[in-house]
Amino acid sequence: LRTIPPLQLGEKYFHLYPDEVDPIWGNPCADHRHIEIWARNKSCEQLPKFLVIGPQKTGTTALYTFLAMHPAIVANYPSPDTFEEVQFFNGKNYFKGIDWYMKFFPVPRNSSSKFLFEKSATYFEGEVVPKRVKALLPNAKLVVIIIPPGKRAYSWYHHMRAHHDVTALQYTFYEVITAGDKSPRPLRDLRNKCLNPGMYAKHIERWLDFFPSSQLTIIDGEDLRNDPVTIMNDLQKFLYIEPFYNYTEHLRYDKRKGFFCQVIEEDKTKCLGRGKGRIYPPMNESEAKALKDFYQSYNVALEKLMTRLEYPVPAWLEDDLQ
Ligand code: A3P
Repeated sequence: LRTIPPLQLGEKYFHLYPDEVDPIWGNPCADHRHIEIWARNKSCEQLPKFLVIGPQKTGTTALYTFLAMHPAIVANYPSPDTFEEVQFFNGKNYFKGIDWYMKFFPVPRNSSSKFLFEKSATYFEGEVVPKRVKALLPNAKLVVIIIPPGKRAYSWYHHMRAHHDVTALQYTFYEVITAGDKSPRPLRDLRNKCLNPGMYAKHIERWLDFFPSSQLTIIDGEDLRNDPVTIMNDLQKFLYIEPFYNYTEHLRYDKRKGFFCQVIEEDKTKCLGRGKGRIYPPMNESEAKALKDFYQSYNVALEKLMTRLEYPVPAWLEDDLQ
């Protein structure tokens, strides 16, 4: 039997098994060897029980805010870089490890039965995300929100302009969504980021490769916007959350904002900031037509998927498919 120094051994190992260069963090509580070497003050209870996975611009901040109002639900602490979103599973934060992730959640007290959760809207379309979530949080429930994909793309484009994205400021929405493969690289990248999340069925199917459909729920974002009380009631049932929180008393339509907001006092509401519910001109006909054509096959797949999973087909999806 012969061995070599640890560093060389490591290098040799990863040369032989390049697929293992990127770590996959498993669930510490599922492995007794891990538990045995874990510090006593650590607990899997400090990991989220459910995730709101997006995609962006579908009403994820409203859902996050409404969930955080619930006395039995606890949201993650904000991140200095990405605000309310932790964005652990999708980017380079993943390599910071489980301890880094757990610092975003309160240490549970013995008697605590709180439901910890986080919302990171870019998890939805991330290729590696379902596999990583499955490894660390195999029992987590997943919440997806969908709105008409073209409307989502348009909202996202205006979000990028509001954030001074140079490419979004340089090109019209029509130019972005119709960019071809010979278009400049930054324009193609923007087009992909704008359109890709709206291919809902493709992304949901990827999540379903790793999770049973009983662990995932799809919310119609138009219902969340127009009737959040019903959506929040249904969501509490899906998550088996107790005590039941009666949102009727805590959410009210605010005429000035044009959206439902949190009731603070009898005659006072707290709405989301100016970045949510932005005012921009309506989409024109050629933009709407280009989006309808682009999303046609993805919407057909979405209708089939929703029917298979026994969801009612959203009215906007039926309209889009006509
Ligand atoms: P617009 O700003 O384009 O209208 P996200 O939080 O995922 O980025 O989604 C933002 C979108 O949430 C907003 O897009 C808005 O239409 C929608 N939304 C749904 N319910 C809302 C609410 N109660 N308050 C503000 N925006 C809400």
